[in-house]
Amino acid sequence: MTPDSCWSDLRDAAQVLKSRHLSELLGDDNRFDALTFEHDGLLLDLSRQRLLPETLDQLVALADACQLKQKIDDLISGEPVNCTEGRAALHTALRTPAGKSLSVNGEDIIAGVQSTLAKMEALVATLHSGQWRGYSGEAIDTVVNIGVGGSDLGPLMTCRALSDFKPKAAQGIELHFVSSMDGSQLSGLLSRLNPATTLFVLSSKSFTTIDTLANAATARQWLVDASGLDSDVILRHHFIGITAQPEKAGEWGIPSQNQLLFWDWTGGRYSMWSAIGLPIAISIGMEGFRRLLAGAHSIDTHFHQAPLRENLPVLLALVGIWNINLLDIHAHAILPYDGRLAHLPAYLEQLEMESNGKSVRLDGSATEGHTCPVLWGEIGPNAQHAFYQLLHQGTESVMCDFIVPAKRYTDRGQELQQQHRLALANCLAQARVLALGDKALADDSADAAPPWKRYRGNQPSTVILLDELTPYALGQLIAMYEHKVYTQAVIWGINPFDQWGVELGKKMATAMLDELDNPDRSASLDSATRGLLLRINTLREQA
Ligand code: F6P
Repeated sequence: MTPDSCWSDLRDAAQVLKSRHLSELLGDDNRFDALTFEHDGLLLDLSRQRLLPETLDQLVALADACQLKQKIDDLISGEPVNCTEGRAALHTALRTPAGKSLSVNGEDIIAGVQSTLAKMEALVATLHSGQWRGYSGEAIDTVVNIGVGGSDLGPLMTCRALSDFKPKAAQGIELHFVSSMDGSQLSGLLSRLNPATTLFVLSSKSFTTIDTLANAATARQWLVDASGLDSDVILRHHFIGITAQPEKAGEWGIPSQNQLLFWDWTGGRYSMWSAIGLPIAISIGMEGFRRLLAGAHSIDTHFHQAPLRENLPVLLALVGIWNINLLDIHAHAILPYDGRLAHLPAYLEQLEMESNGKSVRLDGSATEGHTCPVLWGEIGPNAQHAFYQLLHQGTESVMCDFIVPAKRYTDRGQELQQQHRLALANCLAQARVLALGDKALADDSADAAPPWKRYRGNQPSTVILLDELTPYALGQLIAMYEHKVYTQAVIWGINPFDQWGVELGKKMATAMLDELDNPDRSASLDSATRGLLLRINTLREQA
């Protein structure tokens, strides 16, 4: 079959299914068994999606026609799948266990990955044992990660998600994340941290990101002022650089012994598995970090080897394709029912929208249909009190991902266990009401309700059930989303590994800095920007 004939079959199927309500589809008692998939403890429940098991067959036929199997092989074997930048995207290699090998351009990259892990391990051990000392000889007890986008969101999300997994040695180390270019987070921290015991981790793949370099310069000056010492001494004791550009880090002043390196073939938003994950390793220990990698590797192997019809990331992607391209749904809510996953929506916003927010295909032609939807989210129970109104009674169709662990607080008190039961009950109830609407009620009482108390239902959702939220399970979850993104990119024919869309804004901002200080140079700008520049400068002069 060709992709065109598959799309045509799918359009016919969608025509029929658009007129069927989820309450009708869920009347089939076999539906849960037919539409639930499991791998290594991770459960993907697609039974509240507006499709039939045979729809998945048709979607898999589309994936086959798009040569997905071959494209997965290309990804994992190091082919230059990032074609606009002429390089591989080998985040899977970062979690490949020691003892294996993968040669890319004549180099065994697994050996390089393992040697960086060993360097991270040594660094974490030095910190955990109190042997990394600041300028006064005191042990470092505070680590501040400075980075943005992929150099911030993954480590931040993971450290918060796995905060229950801190080994004893890590408990004496406070960890902070600073990303915003305006200095908001940093200024608050600098007024209360002890410079003598604070270590900054500068995380930047390119080592050119102005947000990170501006925060780093402020932090360096703070230390120089507090210590009265030369910048060189401060940089040796208080700065680690994590980058794919060692020369640039060196020029900035990070000595080579304080550098942890990763590679060009690691995309920024796919980099938490590399040295960028150092804050994670500091927080949960190297053993925990290796469990995270092992969970991701389990999904990599599954993605590479499992038949497409049983392949969790592929199915998650195909259901997205169905909703976006066949049912015309262009909003996607990420709803974790576990407060530890508070930063997961922001992480996935970058992963999905920076990867697949594209409208040009690999051959330069325009994409025919929609690609990545608008994706946002919040801890589910909090979102219930904020934007669920729109999910239940608004005019937009929204697809939702509910993410929840079955077990939590197993070694804690009854009260906390009861709170988790509450979260579980809410998760199940919301998924049910979104699907069934009024029909969730056991009787017909809704029929007599006024229109503003009616629920139309038919909002599709996926439930991702973890056994427990552990480093291993989180690794699985994130790798599943990464491969979902790749699968969708293959079907849309786009490159998920570049981000040219963010470049122009950066260039323009650099020029604008000059115009902000020299308004007389703004004549060539548009009238809206000129107007604001004038207004800002008047206000600044009055200050
Ligand atoms: O501006 C977008 C981006 O390039 C992201 O892709 C990346 O994760 C982030 O900036 C940070 O980049 P870097 O790690 O090079 O500082």
